[in-house]
Amino acid sequence: GLTRHYTFNVQMTNVTRLCVTKSIPTVNGQFPGPKLVVREGDRLVVKVHNHMNYNVSFHWHGIRQLRNGWADGPSYITQCPIQGGGSYVYDFTVTGQRGTLWWHAHISWLRVHLYGPLVILPKRGEGFPFPRPYKELPPIMFGEWFNEDTEAVINQALQTGAGPNISDAYTFNGLPGPTYNCSSKDTYKVKVQPGRTYLLRLINSALNDELFFGIANHTLTVVEADANYVKPFTAKTLVISPGQTMNVLLTTSPSPAFPAYAMAIAPYTNTQGTFDNTTAVAVLEYAPTRASATGNNHLPLPPLPRYNDTNAVANFSSKFRSLATARYPARVPRTVDRHVLFTVGLGTDPCPSNQTCQGPNGTKFAASINNNSFVRPRVALLEAHYQRRYAGVLMANFPTAPPHPFNYTGTPPNNTFVMHGTRVVPLAFNTSVELVLQGTSIQGAESHPLHMHGFNFFVVGQGFGNYDPVNDPANYNLVDPVERNTVSVPTGGWVAVRFLADNPGVWLMHCHFDVHLSWGLSMAWLVNDGPLPSQKMLPPPSDLPKC
Ligand code: C2O
Repeated sequence: GLTRHYTFNVQMTNVTRLCVTKSIPTVNGQFPGPKLVVREGDRLVVKVHNHMNYNVSFHWHGIRQLRNGWADGPSYITQCPIQGGGSYVYDFTVTGQRGTLWWHAHISWLRVHLYGPLVILPKRGEGFPFPRPYKELPPIMFGEWFNEDTEAVINQALQTGAGPNISDAYTFNGLPGPTYNCSSKDTYKVKVQPGRTYLLRLINSALNDELFFGIANHTLTVVEADANYVKPFTAKTLVISPGQTMNVLLTTSPSPAFPAYAMAIAPYTNTQGTFDNTTAVAVLEYAPTRASATGNNHLPLPPLPRYNDTNAVANFSSKFRSLATARYPARVPRTVDRHVLFTVGLGTDPCPSNQTCQGPNGTKFAASINNNSFVRPRVALLEAHYQRRYAGVLMANFPTAPPHPFNYTGTPPNNTFVMHGTRVVPLAFNTSVELVLQGTSIQGAESHPLHMHGFNFFVVGQGFGNYDPVNDPANYNLVDPVERNTVSVPTGGWVAVRFLADNPGVWLMHCHFDVHLSWGLSMAWLVNDGPLPSQKMLPPPSDLPKC
């Protein structure tokens, strides 16, 4: 492969949306940030210079970073953040993956502004395993815009334990579009020819919202999820969770009735609290045809499901199957060495006596996996592990079963107080893990997009209610389950995934809703080195930032 070089100058830039001008962090003054393009097998070298006066680090979401957690990026997990005035070079090779991924800042809520696409083209001469599209359209990243200072939004949520203020707009490549006040001129538009098939890359980089997506009068063919090919299937509405990516084929009408159609996103949520239920709009614009020459100004909107249509979501997610061909096999672990059950959900802390808290019964909101609310350490876990300096940094006793079993999707227990700690699950190299992620009913069922660093996993089963360890495994798909890096744990239900722990290092797993991540809905796997030199972590780069 080739070596591709990029430079990220992280700097404050004035950006105006919804008639509000804010100074926001950008990469090279661009919002959203630059698109990175590599081919499978290439080495990617990204030099980051932090010109801001606060810390930053970058994550290459979905890149496996084999033996090379030093380039993974989550602050205080695989590296200390890059301080103001500091620099760091992310240097990694993209092996065994192709498709659409993305990059984003991985500290506090900075990813609200610092994100961009990461496109991995197939190896030269390899092509796609579906009919060759006429062209690629530019990737579309869904995002959120806050008029308020986003760091203030999360700090308020952390201190008072109230839900954070919702964003002021959903965006397409940073543009809110015509359904918001003072925003028509900031509408994302893409031009197409009639009667052609395009490849469209979609990325949900929103902070806290799962999204429905559709294009009026068009059916989409899903061909890839999280940089893994899937058996093609058609859909009018997609559901994309934060962290997830999807490639679709868009076939345009040979004789469009209108000169343009709306592409729309709207939230899917079961949150009891407030959320923005605006449908945000971008425009699919046809090159002029005879029909459109009449100048029809109507912009048809796609019908999207109701905001809480859980069945539509379950139906959509059940359609994903790995391509599972000889060239792209589904390497599902057939046997299981370790069974792990995680309850995923919110929880509470007692309210400090000098505060008023806005959680249930005056408590303070927290979030947990197996009742453990993850505490971010003060040094990087990966470094501590590499140097075998664990004392005072991490505890190797993250619970692999719920400490107090209860009816997870029934009446929640009275006491939902969480414990706090920087706990990890240690795994021997090449352990085959089956992980069941069980949603809970604590504080109202809510789905949680769980993202795993360092691995893809196979989604072998999912269902509503409580996971049944006796009967549910009989229905697992071990033939062509979808391979992903982010899966939404369904509202009031569970999902079972399998992965092989063949990548030594310390790997974060967390809810990709930033509000839940900030409240502690996260944990880390510590995968030990294997016996062979090729099974050991690489040494840290010399410019690794210090805490
Ligand atoms: Cu896309 Cu840990 O993140």
